[in-house]
Amino acid sequence: MAGDFHNTISKAVRPENTAERLSKYHTSQGRSKEEYASTVKAFYNLVTDFCERGWGKSIHFALMEPGVSFEESIANHEYFLGEAMGLKPGMKVLDVGCGVGGPQRALAKKFGASIVGLNINEYQLGKCSVYNQEASLEHLCSLLHGDFLNIPAEDGSFDAAYHIEAMCHAPDKAAAYAEIFRVLRPGAVFTGYDVCMTPLYDDGNPEHRELKEANEYFSSLPEIASFKEVNDSLRAVGFELIEARDRALDGDPRTPWYGPLEGGSLNLRSFSRTAIGRKVFSAALHVLEGLRAVPKGSSEARKIVNIVADSLVAAARLGIVTPMYYHKARKPG
Ligand SMILES: C[S@@+](CC[C@H](N)C(=O)[O-])C[C@H]1O[C@@H](n2cnc3c(N)ncnc32)[C@H](O)[C@@H]1O
Repeated sequence: MAGDFHNTISKAVRPENTAERLSKYHTSQGRSKEEYASTVKAFYNLVTDFCERGWGKSIHFALMEPGVSFEESIANHEYFLGEAMGLKPGMKVLDVGCGVGGPQRALAKKFGASIVGLNINEYQLGKCSVYNQEASLEHLCSLLHGDFLNIPAEDGSFDAAYHIEAMCHAPDKAAAYAEIFRVLRPGAVFTGYDVCMTPLYDDGNPEHRELKEANEYFSSLPEIASFKEVNDSLRAVGFELIEARDRALDGDPRTPWYGPLEGGSLNLRSFSRTAIGRKVFSAALHVLEGLRAVPKGSSEARKIVNIVADSLVAAARLGIVTPMYYHKARKPG
């Protein structure tokens, strides 16, 4: 068990230049909207390895159902979008902000569609490429390096598009939607889950505002949008909005989406996600850093990940934020 623990924690802090990544993260957070690209890159350069070790290769939340495992819930959350797009073999689909490709591989495998993963972050793309190869899915999963505000693809070249918790990083939602609209063929569906403030959010409430700002600052998000802003921006660029709702409300209140960050089952990975587990891992990293068993900066990097999780859970408990504002829109034609 001790060996396991050391192994897990050491792997979680690769690559070796953690201190440099940490310093870039610190200098980039809170910058102006115009500098969103460097801010978001610095954020994912720092947190990707931690997310992967503690969460998995799909870097998103999921609707949790009683009796359904974490991994199954993650997959179901992705399949729901696959169904919404009517994915089938022969379709060419854009995954906007693909992370390290967990959703891309799951959907390609289940539906047989060709999925192009777009990402601004080269570190994640490098990992994604290796994982696609390891999964022998290169014939269905390809990658595109670029910004969703300026997608390096031809007009009308995709049969569908989706995103999972990626558009929340757009400094101008309508501009990003307009780009997705442009690369879709007429009649194609764009769907996804966005991180939004819910109607329970009260901007006049100092606690709410503080939590919103903490989430924006630490997770490299520009203003977190309301449901109305998402709907209005989709319509403004020409999409026909077919369906939109907070899927968090579809779930069982006994198993909230943020449950995996709070605790529950007892394996090492799930423990590392919980509040107590996050503290234990931080303390262990501090010791290992002193022993030079993990790179310098590791324990502070882990602290950032803890703050990101704690800010989100605090807002989630008040019901003022959701990572699953589901929207399904269609390009007319
Ligand atoms: C929360 S992660 C979700 C990743 C992936 N969708 C998943 O569920 O595993 C958000 C992703 O959006 C990407 N992203 C953020 N801003 C972007 C931009 N301007 N252009 C392209 N990708 C971007 C990030 O690099 C990251 O991969």
